[in-house]
Amino acid sequence: MTIKDLPNKKYFVFDAFGTLFKTSEVKEALTEIAGDKTDSLLQVWRTKQLQYTWLRNEMNQYEPFSTVTKEALDYSMRLNGIADKKVFDILLPLYDTPSLINGVDTLLKTLKANGKTVAILSNGTPSMLDNGVQLTGIASYVDAILSVDTIGVYKPKPAVYQMTLDQLKATIDELVFFSSNQWDVSGASIFGLDACWINQYGETKEGLPFGNVVEFGSLLEVVDVWG
Ligand code: LAC
Repeated sequence: MTIKDLPNKKYFVFDAFGTLFKTSEVKEALTEIAGDKTDSLLQVWRTKQLQYTWLRNEMNQYEPFSTVTKEALDYSMRLNGIADKKVFDILLPLYDTPSLINGVDTLLKTLKANGKTVAILSNGTPSMLDNGVQLTGIASYVDAILSVDTIGVYKPKPAVYQMTLDQLKATIDELVFFSSNQWDVSGASIFGLDACWINQYGETKEGLPFGNVVEFGSLLEVVDVWG
């Protein structure tokens, strides 16, 4: 796939957390508790959250993303020597009350104006994702919300990307998948989906296998494809 093939796609499928939604806004209340450990607390939380999904996949030990997210935060708090349970009340709700990453609104509007089907494919639970699209005001642009919870395995298992084709009744050529998470782009593209890596955090390319991938610096760069 090259950039000029994008307008011919019918199904535009987006990862949620990190790609459309931000969750890591540091509140003053958190800094008051965690002090100079705030950054480490947040970083270890996200790293462990993802690592736990991959390990649970390996062990056939699926638990919903809400549980894994809580277990990862519990670990990060213990690692960083933070015992105040108020941290749970500050951070866990962020997955139900995310905010939009720059460009989401404009891109989804553009896609809908061009008659495209827009879907979300996420590790998040159905309720997290429903809350997210409602609260951020993008519900009217999203035709389908797909959660790995339906099949009880996490990305980047091939079964997740197959589920996306099945649920949308899309052929592999009609669909393009977008994620900022490189391991997700790797998994989707190695499965056989055309994929776009939204490198909105200026990351170095991972040493992972990649299939057909086009790189963009932001979601707004994708909008430019439609002029
Ligand atoms: C998601 C994770 C990868 O939304 O953030 O699926």
